[in-house]
Amino acid sequence: MSQKSSRIPGFYKLTVEERLEKVSQFAELNEEEKLCFLKNGDLSLAIDKEIADRMIENVIGIYELPLGIATNFLINGKDYLIPMAIEETSVVAAASNAARIARVRGGFEAEASDQVMIGQVQLLHVPDIEKAINNILKARENLLEVANRQDKVLVSLGGGAKDIEIRKLGENEMLVVHLLVDVKDAMGANAVNTMVEAIAPLLEEITGGKARLKIISNLADRRLARARAVFDKEAMGGEDVVDAFLEGYRFALLDPYRAATHNKGIMNGIDAVAIATGNDWRAIEAGAHAYAARDGTYKPLTRYWKDDDGNLVGEIELPIAVGVVGGAVSIHKKAQICRKILGVKTAKELAMILASVGLAQNFAALLALSTVGIQKGHMELHAQNIAVMAGAKGDQIDEVAQRMIKEGKIRLDRAKELMKELYG
Ligand code: MEV
Repeated sequence: MSQKSSRIPGFYKLTVEERLEKVSQFAELNEEEKLCFLKNGDLSLAIDKEIADRMIENVIGIYELPLGIATNFLINGKDYLIPMAIEETSVVAAASNAARIARVRGGFEAEASDQVMIGQVQLLHVPDIEKAINNILKARENLLEVANRQDKVLVSLGGGAKDIEIRKLGENEMLVVHLLVDVKDAMGANAVNTMVEAIAPLLEEITGGKARLKIISNLADRRLARARAVFDKEAMGGEDVVDAFLEGYRFALLDPYRAATHNKGIMNGIDAVAIATGNDWRAIEAGAHAYAARDGTYKPLTRYWKDDDGNLVGEIELPIAVGVVGGAVSIHKKAQICRKILGVKTAKELAMILASVGLAQNFAALLALSTVGIQKGHMELHAQNIAVMAGAKGDQIDEVAQRMIKEGKIRLDRAKELMKELYG
């Protein structure tokens, strides 16, 4: 069998059907799976009305996003086509472009820690804090056992509650107990929340305090993913471009206003893959931004420097809590097919992919910002969007968009005028 490659030159020039055919060959999708993407508007194969009605409350319909495929990704020596669900122009193209440049020097090297989540129990009105801490430590085994009784399947897979940590907050105002749970291939919120609720009465008994909140922490700093890539200086446009890039990066290091936007760009990529794979992107967002501020100042989640040959090295590290089993991940048919396209079987591998995409997205944004600016890349699709807003259909969309680009006037009023001029 020939080696699969995510390097598909001209992918963007194909029709939607031709692209789907390429992806189907790559991921060996069957006819039913292909149909699921082709039947626009008919979601009977993704989530139907009944499933949607059971997923959330007060359902009136299903809301869709465009699903694109980022090409060129080579992560730990394996080729990936990356499904991204996102409404924003240029994100998919930018990720593909960054992955193409990273590929020149071997692509992304990524790693992820064990999939350990933290569950918190807040203990108030503890009469003797030091004695309580001692008693909790003595009851450690018992607490872990009670927690693990809640999820025998997870324990049988080698996961489950592994450790207890205790923190004092305020001037002895409260004790907070952390339950560390290896959630394996699930996102883990359900498992962890059940466990902390189960150990709370025992903690009250041991400490004489009142257990108030019992809930997972989204600052998942025991569930980190990292990715690194060397971006070839020639492929970037020369060493001057590397220097300009690093000057732009330094801005984010010094200024939280810039760092927020810098990290937003990272999350453009990470969220899009999280959504495509049915994961809770708000949890990842919360974890990412809290991690970015972990030393008291909000910082960029990526680091960049020049290697001895003048190439750019980039690195990202952040908490990524994603699952490949459980919850929406298992219910949503398109999310399942997206995982099949990725070829991922474990949460760890998915986390490594997300970290790599985050780094790629950030690299692409900084490269554009430090050279030609961000608007140039946006122009084409932006103009098409404006044309659609002005009522253009089919071939009219390209015609109106191209004219607006040529004139340098990409505005709704101009699109409307052109629609009138050209089509009456
Ligand atoms: C836009 O969605 C994301 C960027 O603003 C990110 C950045 O500025 O680094 C382009």
